[in-house]
Amino acid sequence: MTNNPLYLAPMEDVTDPAFRLLCKRFGADRVYTEFVNADALVRDVPSTMRKLRVRDEERPVAIQIYGKDAASMADAARIVEQAKPDIIDINFGCPVKKVAGKGAGAGLLRDVPRMLEITRAVVNAVHTPVTVKTRLGWDANTLYLPDGTPFIVDLAERLQDIGITELAIHGRTRAQMYRDEADWTLIGEVKRNPRIHIPIIGNGDVTTPERARECFERYGVDAVMIGRATFGCPWIFAEIKEYLNSPNNQNTPIIPKTMKDKIAILKEHVDRAIEWVGDEHKGILHSRRHFAASPVFKGLPDFRQTRIALLRADTREEVFAIMDQILQRWGDNNTPQ
Ligand SMILES: Cc1cc2nc3c(=O)[nH]c(=O)nc-3n(C[C@H](O)[C@H](O)[C@H](O)COP(=O)(O)O)c2cc1C
Repeated sequence: MTNNPLYLAPMEDVTDPAFRLLCKRFGADRVYTEFVNADALVRDVPSTMRKLRVRDEERPVAIQIYGKDAASMADAARIVEQAKPDIIDINFGCPVKKVAGKGAGAGLLRDVPRMLEITRAVVNAVHTPVTVKTRLGWDANTLYLPDGTPFIVDLAERLQDIGITELAIHGRTRAQMYRDEADWTLIGEVKRNPRIHIPIIGNGDVTTPERARECFERYGVDAVMIGRATFGCPWIFAEIKEYLNSPNNQNTPIIPKTMKDKIAILKEHVDRAIEWVGDEHKGILHSRRHFAASPVFKGLPDFRQTRIALLRADTREEVFAIMDQILQRWGDNNTPQ
């Protein structure tokens, strides 16, 4: 196993093959698909089946599924296995109403027997390693069991006993959605539990190399999973790796240092997204989230109008022209920033 592995978190509409491959190039040790609905797989819905396409270059790759019914999750896992992912991951963490409110995703934090039943059904259905991604609990009132054991510590043991091979924990409750700061202390407690022998992956608010180091050193996790901080910044994996590993480590990918290099990667992302969705306009829509959040454009003086134009542009030509203007006006002439 690599030292201090860094994983790209599963994210709906974000972690498509185009973005996964870029993150992989910059050192992500594992990438995840967005969550895939089990019932839609069973019904053979073409747009859902498309989400199962993985390429050899992105391995190791995990395909994530969600659902609330054990039999359909087991059927879905069998379908997923045919796509030959390295891992099948179960989503028990999605907090949004249309998922958790219907008893799937984080909704299962309120129904642990059912969560365990689903997990057992999936583990028994396939030969591929099965992992789980979840949250600390349903809400602040249920973070601890009556005997004082943290809910997530107990849950981790039960999931491990069923045969999952790894557990990823996002340090928030369902009720918190994405609010407040992720709490890593309970993730650390799961890791410290002597009964736990499967790798524990920590997730939540890792945005800098310093924070990543703290997560490994202070909380002892086996891997760190990064979500939002990758938007418009797939090279974050390389930056963290350079910081954590010795600078001469041959495995450290090359980090883009200049605005010119970074914009070249954003353009490449646009092209890959267009290629993946097979439609210029949709590919651009898909990339906007990345432009909006990219650190490349943060803090540029008088950038507002250009930002609006960038987020409105709807052809590849327009997007690239605006990016070239940005480079001309705010560029660095190759000075690192
Ligand atoms: C746009 C978006 C889509 C997400 N989709 C998924 C998903 O499909 N499956 C999942 O397990 N988590 C999903 N998440 C949660 C992330 O995987 C991650 O747990 C969360 O963003 C916290 O990590 P971060 O602070 O590094 O972003 C999503 C998050 C965002 C922001």
